[in-house]
Amino acid sequence: MSLKITVIGTGYLGATHAAAMAELGFEVLGLDVVPEKIAMLERGETPMYEPGLEELLRRHVAGIEGATGRLRFTTDWAEVGAFGDVHFVCVNTPQKHGEYACDMSYVDSAIASLAPHLHGPALVVGKSTVPVGSAGRLAAYLAEHAPAGADAELAWNPEFLREGFAVQDTLHPDRIVVGVRSERAEKLLREVYAGPVGDGTPFVVTDFPTAELVKTAANSFLATKISFINAMAEVCEAAGGDVARLAEAIGHDDRIGRKFLRAGIGFGGGCLPKDIRAFMARAGELGADQALTFLREIDSINMRRRGQMVEMAREALGGGSFLGRRVAVLGATFKPDSDDVRDSPALNVAGQIHLQGGQVTVYDPKGMANARKVFPTLGYADSALEAARGADVVLHLTEWQEFRELDPVALGEAAADRVLLDGRNTLDPELWRRAGWTYRAMGRPTA
Ligand code: UDX
Repeated sequence: MSLKITVIGTGYLGATHAAAMAELGFEVLGLDVVPEKIAMLERGETPMYEPGLEELLRRHVAGIEGATGRLRFTTDWAEVGAFGDVHFVCVNTPQKHGEYACDMSYVDSAIASLAPHLHGPALVVGKSTVPVGSAGRLAAYLAEHAPAGADAELAWNPEFLREGFAVQDTLHPDRIVVGVRSERAEKLLREVYAGPVGDGTPFVVTDFPTAELVKTAANSFLATKISFINAMAEVCEAAGGDVARLAEAIGHDDRIGRKFLRAGIGFGGGCLPKDIRAFMARAGELGADQALTFLREIDSINMRRRGQMVEMAREALGGGSFLGRRVAVLGATFKPDSDDVRDSPALNVAGQIHLQGGQVTVYDPKGMANARKVFPTLGYADSALEAARGADVVLHLTEWQEFRELDPVALGEAAADRVLLDGRNTLDPELWRRAGWTYRAMGRPTA
């Protein structure tokens, strides 16, 4: 008989994981404590924009015409406890307010709510990004509080999905990492992931701390790559070099690789910034803070980029104050193919210029509603062309494909002045220069 799976928490991670598990053929029950979220998912809708996810939901959610019916949702913990052989915990672990450490309250309360309903053998699998040591602590809690005792086991299975590619990354991951304490747990997880593993996905079995650390180490490495190339961009700016050519050239070395070497206004989002900070905080608790002091530098290089973009805009406007100057901002989300504006470098730059008196007009293909919520006092336009109308300078701050396809001639006719600052290094300089624009990018020569 096929395993029954529950997924606790239906944000990016949970909603995608639940739909992917149904796609792999399992009966799945998703739980969230927010009834409105459950109501949306039951209609095959998601609270966030993620390519392909609604299609996947509609293929499986019970009650939707033509769906397999393998995926259901509930707010009832007892139902979850009675249903599942394997319970995936997918709740978020945000940064604590005013601190580097991560807030474990959602994970802790999910385990506390589930434990009393585990009456028989069950495997609880943590997927959230947590400080190393959490799995051991939660395993002890489960053994003590679940009526099934030692039969209610814990495993840790970090998730590496990227926003914008969540469905693809979940169904075809680069690797599956499982931290386990027993053969039974490993066997169950091999059964869950038989599909991707059968297609050749590596399956790495570790202890608890290693599994937890793989996730934070991977995100720290990615953040380091981005800040490294941004540091090189600073040097290129000072020395008159071209960071895009430099990245291309060093990337030809297989040991370095070409990915994640795009210089610009840096990383944001709900993961990389808070994960490297939580990692530093945890290392401090463990007495290993010296090992991660470099991450403080990675963070500060990253945060510095936003201010540097603001200064580049000021300079492009002739220096001095932003007062009364019109600034068009293309992009509000922290990355393309997402509507997520959490810790978005684009919105941060737009906000800084606005707070310094600039008349900022923002356009983003999917992030407008979320941007308006976070920053209601900014100006918003319905298209890139509208945003550029009358602008003294145009800032390209999120690398949407739509912006790569813009017509520089039409935008040039709308703008008051043809000055484009590319904060993502993804537009074609020649195309814009040919249309009469002054094109400037971070870390690249001016002409
Ligand atoms: C990240 C990790 O990639 C993923 O494995 C983990 O599970 C969650 O965190 P995500 O937050 O979706 O995923 O975004 P990612 O694609 O990593 O991009 C992060 C930020 O870095 C974005 O703001 C992006 O614009 C920026 N970035 C990325 C660069 O500035 N330069 C690059 O070369 C690549």
